[in-house]
Amino acid sequence: MIDNLVRKNVKNLKPYASARSLYQEGVFFDANENALGSTVTVPDVPDLNRYPDPKSADLRKAIAAYVGVDPAQVFVGNGSDEAIDLLIRVFVEPNEAVIIVEPTYGMYKVAAETAGVEIRPWPLTGSFQLDLSSLGTVSAGAKLIFSCSPNNPTGNLLPIEDVRGLCSKFKGIVVLDEAYIEFASQPSLAEKVREIENLVVLRTFSKAWGLAGIRVGYAIAHPKVIGYMDRIKAPYNLGRVSAALAQRALKNKDDMLRMRERILAERLRVARELKEVNFNVFESEANFLLVQYPGMSKIATILAEEYGLIIRDFSGRERLEDCARITIGTPEQNDRLVETLKKIV
Ligand SMILES: Cc1ncc(COP(=O)(O)O)c(C=O)c1O
Repeated sequence: MIDNLVRKNVKNLKPYASARSLYQEGVFFDANENALGSTVTVPDVPDLNRYPDPKSADLRKAIAAYVGVDPAQVFVGNGSDEAIDLLIRVFVEPNEAVIIVEPTYGMYKVAAETAGVEIRPWPLTGSFQLDLSSLGTVSAGAKLIFSCSPNNPTGNLLPIEDVRGLCSKFKGIVVLDEAYIEFASQPSLAEKVREIENLVVLRTFSKAWGLAGIRVGYAIAHPKVIGYMDRIKAPYNLGRVSAALAQRALKNKDDMLRMRERILAERLRVARELKEVNFNVFESEANFLLVQYPGMSKIATILAEEYGLIIRDFSGRERLEDCARITIGTPEQNDRLVETLKKIV
């Protein structure tokens, strides 16, 4: 199935053979690096003067163990944003379409527009769920669907059965972006790529792991999908420092879980306090809350300009009238935000 979905030029492409993909050991005279050393050092990250492993194989192995899949089912990249871009370029011909659930994370649309492919918005239901009965109205000529669970910015999960239903009904690739899954009450579907050939799960170190600054994201998928993504990625897409730090993070899983608990407790408290002053607070399975209040756009502007408190205003977006997204901060930051909001409204 996957081979038939891949773009013709990607299938026929002779990938760039980077120096380090040809030889991994020896005295290197082949990549025009600086053999004398580097101008900066980072503790415990050696050989910064040398290009990194093109596949970041050690990190893929560590992620595979964390997620419960084989290393061949893991792609790592410069944030999951890189994977979003590559998936479109692997599968969607210029005259084909990408289906994007709406409302959702804005980068799917930007990546699709950049690639010059058609975009088919697929509205989520009133409670921001998949409407499988309407898939037929958008699926003709579409190769790829972007869905997101927990969804950004609405915060809700998509039930496992619905994603399964979508994968069996849609004859293309189903991308399920689980950037926020560590905060959710439902486990990741990443392991399901073992049985569901057309499912691609996106995950990231940018949210629960607290590592947005190192830009490491990953895709879990059928080894063939991973192979095609590797074929078109930039030769050394992930730096040595980022790969080493992500690997180190996986060894500190307990730290991540402890932060998760604190964020979930604060999520509950902030939601309760905002409900007390009549904000409509949507149920959230992520590290943010979607909140609604009449005149939200003005409230967001006052918060930013008079108090230096920055929330993400979505009030201009279809289906998100008077809505804003609030990331859960530290208890002190949350106190400040809630008190200020109470004062403004
Ligand atoms: C749903 C979703 N996917 C992906 C990303 C980007 O993740 P990364 O930092 O790994 O590129 C974000 C960031 O906000 C997001 O909300």
